[in-house]
Amino acid sequence: MQIFREISYLRAGIAALRAGGARIAMVPTMGALHAGHMALVEEARAHADHVVVSIFVNPTQFGPNEDLSAYPRREAADVALLEAAGVAALWAPGVEVMYPEGFASSIHVAGLSEGLDGEWRPGHFDGVATVVAKLFNQVRPDVACFGEKDFQQLAVIRRLVTDFDLDVEIVGVPTRRDTDGLALSSRNAYLGENARAMAVALPEMLVMTGEAVLSGGDVAAALADAERHLVARGFESVDYVALVDSHSLAPLARLDRPARLLVAARIGGTRLIDNIAVNP
Ligand code: PAF
Repeated sequence: MQIFREISYLRAGIAALRAGGARIAMVPTMGALHAGHMALVEEARAHADHVVVSIFVNPTQFGPNEDLSAYPRREAADVALLEAAGVAALWAPGVEVMYPEGFASSIHVAGLSEGLDGEWRPGHFDGVATVVAKLFNQVRPDVACFGEKDFQQLAVIRRLVTDFDLDVEIVGVPTRRDTDGLALSSRNAYLGENARAMAVALPEMLVMTGEAVLSGGDVAAALADAERHLVARGFESVDYVALVDSHSLAPLARLDRPARLLVAARIGGTRLIDNIAVNP
């Protein structure tokens, strides 16, 4: 696997991979790779001749009180995993390459960026949209794979691609879960043993609430029960539990169309997010 850290070398490497009309699929990541990321790589391989992965812990998507400096960084282990998976190239730029002195632009995807995580993490999706636009422009992939675990992020990226006529197909990949149902996430590494055991309440709550809503239960009551349930099971706080239209992410008072049930809650000082489809 070739590792690129400068844009000029990346461009030459990508041009060589493209020789003869080969297709490129990209998996943008922030590293600390786990089986969820490797499922994205596997999916990417099914769509193209070569897979290019990026690892960049993007400072502009972290708020002032978030975990940028503590975010897990394990490049050597990540490289070993990507090599074993047959990835053709790793794009691993430094902050000075992505945001050189004088960098002044930002992309705001209105509407989709504003509720849910956007409300709790102001500016987060501007950071995501901006860095993803840059990554796409640097690598120019034919296809890019993103996890459905970050469902709002996926919606923001789809909108970005449509609005800017970016010539890349976006593929959403179902969430990979641990054996007890907890969604795989790089942030699970922060959980102590107790918090990790209690965190299973999150996917259990999603299934339970989804069933309540599907069986005709009142949506507002089911969401309020869900929050109480998480606190009773040891979560310190719940940022939101929401039932939304799966395309617009607008809140739903009734289950009358394909919907997504999303949650963000904190346990053991770690903020976890998850979501499931709820289709009438
Ligand atoms: O999902 C992530 O890991 C990040 O938000 C992404 C898409 C790589 C942008 O930094």
